[in-house]
Amino acid sequence: MDDFEVEARRVLPRCIYGFVSGGVESNGTRDANRAAFDDWSFIPRVLVDTTRRGQAVDLFGHRWSAPFGIAPMGSTALGAFECERVLAGGAYEAGIPCLLSGASLMAMEKVIAANPDTWFQAYIPGDRTTVGPLIERVRRAGYRTLVVTVDVAVNGNRENNVRNGFSIPLRPTARLAWDGITHPRWLTHTLARTLWRNGMPRFENITGGERGPPLISPTAQRSFGRRDSLTWDDMAWIRDQWQGNFILKGILSPEDARKARDIGADGIIVSNHGGRQLDGSLASLRALPDIVAAVGGSTTVMLDSGIRRGTDVLKALALGASFVFLGRPFFFAASVGDEAGVRHAITLLAEEIDRDMALIGCTSPAELDPSFLVRNSGAR
Ligand SMILES: Cc1cc2nc3c(=O)[nH]c(=O)nc-3n(C[C@H](O)[C@H](O)[C@H](O)COP(=O)(O)O)c2cc1C
Repeated sequence: MDDFEVEARRVLPRCIYGFVSGGVESNGTRDANRAAFDDWSFIPRVLVDTTRRGQAVDLFGHRWSAPFGIAPMGSTALGAFECERVLAGGAYEAGIPCLLSGASLMAMEKVIAANPDTWFQAYIPGDRTTVGPLIERVRRAGYRTLVVTVDVAVNGNRENNVRNGFSIPLRPTARLAWDGITHPRWLTHTLARTLWRNGMPRFENITGGERGPPLISPTAQRSFGRRDSLTWDDMAWIRDQWQGNFILKGILSPEDARKARDIGADGIIVSNHGGRQLDGSLASLRALPDIVAAVGGSTTVMLDSGIRRGTDVLKALALGASFVFLGRPFFFAASVGDEAGVRHAITLLAEEIDRDMALIGCTSPAELDPSFLVRNSGAR
């Protein structure tokens, strides 16, 4: 999966590549996410008949063909033409879930037309009067799973964006123009095609009604509203409004996992936003075992941040995750290969999982448990 990033770095303007690949501040948590996977090794079982192995997983009443999905990412249209549709369509073809970000640039109604199994991830403002209509729109569009991201009280400190002269909303400058001009494939294949066919991208999914502001509008950030006043009461209130599957994304503490379960969340995603919010927060994989011990069995525990290999997927499942998501690799796959790139990325990862299951002597994800792993640092 990492090879998509190598190629994307060549194709994308420096500022867009930096926006996607970067974390916050010193990138400590982004890098810790990867290191956490390296801290575990497999204890493979041999001479197990795995000829009938399969990686399909049941989750929220749906059978998915693999135990991984595509994490929500905002502003993906910067990386590929109609990237939201490309990601959702690729996921649908492969039978894996795809989450549409509330900061996306294609209307949720169009995306669900490409993939009726898409999940919607909302950025909820503190003001409840705008939340109700948004939830109603999500329901009317046909979404059955609502994910609310809760690790975004304020925006993370993305210093690499500052260094690259990049921001959301975009502020067009001579520097950004030069960055674009010097990446002609992106300029013609993504930017020109987007502007020509669809006009200036807008944040289409912030409210229940009118289209959101254009990507270059100075008011765009404000349209997402303040989120630093949100509390568990707000989540309980949303739970009451929404009859479908309700998931909280961005949980790292066992206590918060218990609170999520107690307000009736059907699932949580253990996540530090790919290291893009609080630098110095712990790696998702490190947070996982304690969270599983706290709520495993009473709510569905999923995980993202740092997964790049089939072995990473299996390690997370062995430590108690029911499902995992990947962000950046799919953004880069779409940037370098559109639909074919996304399809290829899904196939590569599924093939790795299949091969690794045979090599560790496991026939189904349900068989995985911590006995397949040993921690390199010695502590369990
Ligand atoms: C470009 C980009 C945009 C993102 N936008 C969102 C978003 O709109 N909502 C959200 O909940 N998470 C967002 N995330 C975080 C991802 O959903 C996910 O938590 C993270 O990418 C997982 O880490 P990974 O990239 O190492 O797989 C974004 C991540 C990236 C890379």
